[in-house]
Amino acid sequence: MLTIKSRDRNYTVQVCADLPAALQSVSRPERALYLVDRAMIQLYGPALAGIAEQCVVLEAKEEQKSFEQFTPVFLELLQRGLKRDGVLVVIGGGVLQDIGCFIASVLFRGLYWELVPTTLLAQADSCIGSKSSINIGPYKNQIGTFYPPGRVLLTSSILRTLPGDEIRSGLGEVIKLQLLHGPDGFDELMADLAAMNAENQPALLTKWVLRSLAVKQPYIEADEFDRGIRNLLNYGHTFGHAYESATHFGIPHGIAVILGMLTATHLSVRLGLATPEHFADLKKRLAPWHQPYGATLQQADLAAIFTAIRHDKKNTGDAVNCILTAGPGRMEKRRVDFQHELMPSVTAFIQQELAQ
Ligand SMILES: NC(=O)c1ccc[n+]([C@@H]2O[C@H](COP(=O)([O-])OP(=O)(O)OC[C@H]3O[C@@H](n4cnc5c(N)ncnc54)[C@H](O)[C@@H]3O)[C@@H](O)[C@H]2O)c1
Repeated sequence: MLTIKSRDRNYTVQVCADLPAALQSVSRPERALYLVDRAMIQLYGPALAGIAEQCVVLEAKEEQKSFEQFTPVFLELLQRGLKRDGVLVVIGGGVLQDIGCFIASVLFRGLYWELVPTTLLAQADSCIGSKSSINIGPYKNQIGTFYPPGRVLLTSSILRTLPGDEIRSGLGEVIKLQLLHGPDGFDELMADLAAMNAENQPALLTKWVLRSLAVKQPYIEADEFDRGIRNLLNYGHTFGHAYESATHFGIPHGIAVILGMLTATHLSVRLGLATPEHFADLKKRLAPWHQPYGATLQQADLAAIFTAIRHDKKNTGDAVNCILTAGPGRMEKRRVDFQHELMPSVTAFIQQELAQ
């Protein structure tokens, strides 16, 4: 069990054998309402039958993470009698987590909540760090709060039903965290992924979920509100978010992050920070984990990508804040000139590097 330090309350991450065991661990179940991904109801109906009357079911879609969609959810929670001393239990991936975290942070000015993350991305990355991120119009994740759950209940058995692309999407964040940590973890991860098969996948995913959380923990504890060192966790994200929005979310989040990390590394070479050999090595090793979405990115409108980068919440003026790299374990934040440095590098990465 991990204990994560947070300003509002410390919270724990607990490993459970399966979904029924996770549900049995929920606090004050008689006062709980459950915000559940519809896919979970379809896939895990028997396991969820005991709480069916307490479930509010939502689609795990980006469009659901917007204010327009929230009113009926707030109303349903209130009509079903959720009170200030109640518990909101979220069962789903990053989309449900963002919605549940946001609702819990504002409903009654703060409602206790717990999380059962059901995607690899949510288990290995977003379940710790306290963030909610909500979309408004075309602007992704521009609104949000910091509000940790009281407990995170992890179960790797639930990942068995996750589609292959969603596994790779989660692996994007797992890879990012190991690149952030250093060369040894990254090499070990790449070796494990190369050897992964249907039989050993659950054990390997459990191992890398826990290793990922261990890398992320010190960053979020040192800088919970993302004003300093935690920014480094955004390696690959300035570009990744732009690739997601320019393809109308045609590239899963973590896979867009893989393409974003390659872009940031390409830019780092151009700025004299990383060696061309490091970029070439990374490009080769990450290719299996982003294919065939490199082709999706090549078809995207470059102007839409640049507009999205400019709109990113981390940017001001003619320069863009980027997390660059000198190699595994060596990330740094720099302001990069948009027109003269960033645009030519992104163009060359997409038009030339991805084509080879
Ligand atoms: N708040 C944060 O810290 C944070 C961090 C990273 C990403 N995010 C957000 O998370 C979202 C992406 O989340 P995600 O990648 O976890 O995906 P998701 O929640 O969108 O789920 C992806 C798909 O998998 C399905 N699914 C979920 N669990 C399943 C299971 N166990 N078996 C079968 N299908 C299952 C869902 O129904 C959906 O179709 C984005 O909106 C992103 O902005 C938030």
